[in-house]
Amino acid sequence: MKKKGRVPVRKVKPAPVGSPGVKIAPSILAADFGNLASEIKSVEEGGADLLHIDVMDGHFVPNITVGVPVVASIRGKTSLPLDVHLMVDSPELFIKPFAEAGSDYLTIHVEIRSRLERLIDTIHELGVKVGLAINPGTSIVRLEPFLKEIDIALLMTVNPGFGGQTLIPEVIPKVRELREKKERKGLATSIEVDGGVNSETASQLISAGADILVVGTDVFAAKNRKEAIRILRGHKPKARR
Ligand code: DX5
Ligand code: ZN
Repeated sequence: MKKKGRVPVRKVKPAPVGSPGVKIAPSILAADFGNLASEIKSVEEGGADLLHIDVMDGHFVPNITVGVPVVASIRGKTSLPLDVHLMVDSPELFIKPFAEAGSDYLTIHVEIRSRLERLIDTIHELGVKVGLAINPGTSIVRLEPFLKEIDIALLMTVNPGFGGQTLIPEVIPKVRELREKKERKGLATSIEVDGGVNSETASQLISAGADILVVGTDVFAAKNRKEAIRILRGHKPKARR
């Protein structure tokens, strides 16, 4: 892996997630990688709040996607906060390169064997915000010891590894439960949901307490990305003329 110098870009302070109004994070896994720059431009101009980048190592999940060089290239093409989702067995090997590549958020999974406290501290020490993810079959209890330290709690709404799957409805009560816990503790941790989120499932997730919606297929399969993002936020579709 050739070490690439950090690409100087106009650094826009990421919007403090958790501010009023749900945030939309298009997942580039569903984008046309042959035209990635224009795909990213279309969602940035379409009103996206963050850009979700799925990193898969072929071990933690049965798929391989993108790595550090792609994140570094994307950093030079957008000022959207980069929300990097690490579905990898040994994130400790890659946290520093992904931080240097320009990630604004780095999310790791509780299901890995590495020492989570150490990883959370390392990410913060690199000046990057931390996300902690749980798979559909994992209880939110596994997140509780870390809720104060993390910026994003990511609840997978599909089993990770592929885009275009159907949302697992059993996860929605977990969103509500986590929201109640964070409110009881007075925490600002943002609740993010990822997988099978679309114009049909978005409103249930928002009312359950989701702050950030990761959306791949429903945004990148749409011709009008701006309208797709508006509808996910709960706005009525524009009347066709
Ligand atoms: C799946 C990824 C998701 C996925 C979402 O493991 O973490 O981010 O790309 O794509 P859709 O919205 O198509 O389910
Ligand atoms: Zn993801």
